[in-house]
Amino acid sequence: MALMARGAEFLGSEYAILCGAMSWVSERTLVAAISNAGGFGVIACGAMSPELLDREIAATAALTTRPFGVNLITMHPQLTELIAVCADHRVSHVVLAGGIPPKGAVEAIKAFGAKVLVFAPTIALAKKLLRSGADALVIEGSEAGGHIGPVATSVLAQEFLPALAEDHIVFVAGGIGRGEMIASYLDMGAAGVQLGTRFACATESIAHPAFKAAFFRANARDAVASVQVDPRLPVIPVRALKNKGTEEFTAKQREVAALLDAGAIEMGEAQLQIEHFWAGALRRAVIDGDVESGSLMAGQSVGMVTREDPVATIIAELLDECEAALVRA
Ligand SMILES: Cc1cc2nc3c(=O)[nH]c(=O)nc-3n(C[C@H](O)[C@H](O)[C@H](O)COP(=O)(O)O)c2cc1C
Repeated sequence: MALMARGAEFLGSEYAILCGAMSWVSERTLVAAISNAGGFGVIACGAMSPELLDREIAATAALTTRPFGVNLITMHPQLTELIAVCADHRVSHVVLAGGIPPKGAVEAIKAFGAKVLVFAPTIALAKKLLRSGADALVIEGSEAGGHIGPVATSVLAQEFLPALAEDHIVFVAGGIGRGEMIASYLDMGAAGVQLGTRFACATESIAHPAFKAAFFRANARDAVASVQVDPRLPVIPVRALKNKGTEEFTAKQREVAALLDAGAIEMGEAQLQIEHFWAGALRRAVIDGDVESGSLMAGQSVGMVTREDPVATIIAELLDECEAALVRA
């Protein structure tokens, strides 16, 4: 608890364990369950409209009195309106994901008193974002589910934590399946951790039973990163369980690259089309249970997800393992 104190105080939660926002999965039920169990839940705004986000925040607040956050994707065309919705609800923490925040975004969030969490791929960029007002950092390694960077969590932790953790709040994400791993990142100075995959199939998760069954069957090696087909099209890799959807994504990239070649679309539009593809495919898997051609975004820790447990049980297990490791050390 002492090692988590700084992170927990920052989040306003009991434990410095965030459930990272997962599009379609991190809605009111899971987010409220995480916060009610002492962790910190984060609503995934994803491609939601401001009206939908407004409803989701209100519904989440009706299910918990504890703090929770909202994750906004920086390339969302209505980012300004989404920030205004967060302001209306006096959201306490906003996580800006999916790229470097556009000018004014951090300031607009801080203006209504919320804390801002950002992702940073390099130490130089992390320092710049912290200087320009970001309150905390999430470092996320390539083991994670969803959109990923190229470097493993273990390496990012060794680079970022000694350089930044003493003076700043840094949360570590990616590949965390057990408490022993949490203990080691806390020991290195992390203020807390963020997990996604481990919580995706909790009892309170609305994910389709077929989506959960695919997670329970899968091993670490089944959670593969997507490949980039065209060197001009800087597609951010996505880690997901391999299925027919993985191949369909390759085909989609070829289609978008051809449109770029023909001058039919600009690069920004090309990237947006790719992101919309993911959002649609993820919805099909999570909500409709289409585990064949939908996107089963999952991290390499998926092999440690073997059954459906309530969020409180998962958190208790992680804390027990963490404590035992620290006592042994
Ligand atoms: C199904 C799924 C969807 C995700 N969607 C998002 C998202 O919309 N925004 C985001 O910032 N991160 C997203 N992530 C990443 C998680 O927030 C979290 O950082 C990640 O899962 C942590 O790594 P882990 O999966 O190894 O625990 C997603 C992850 C998964 C598994």
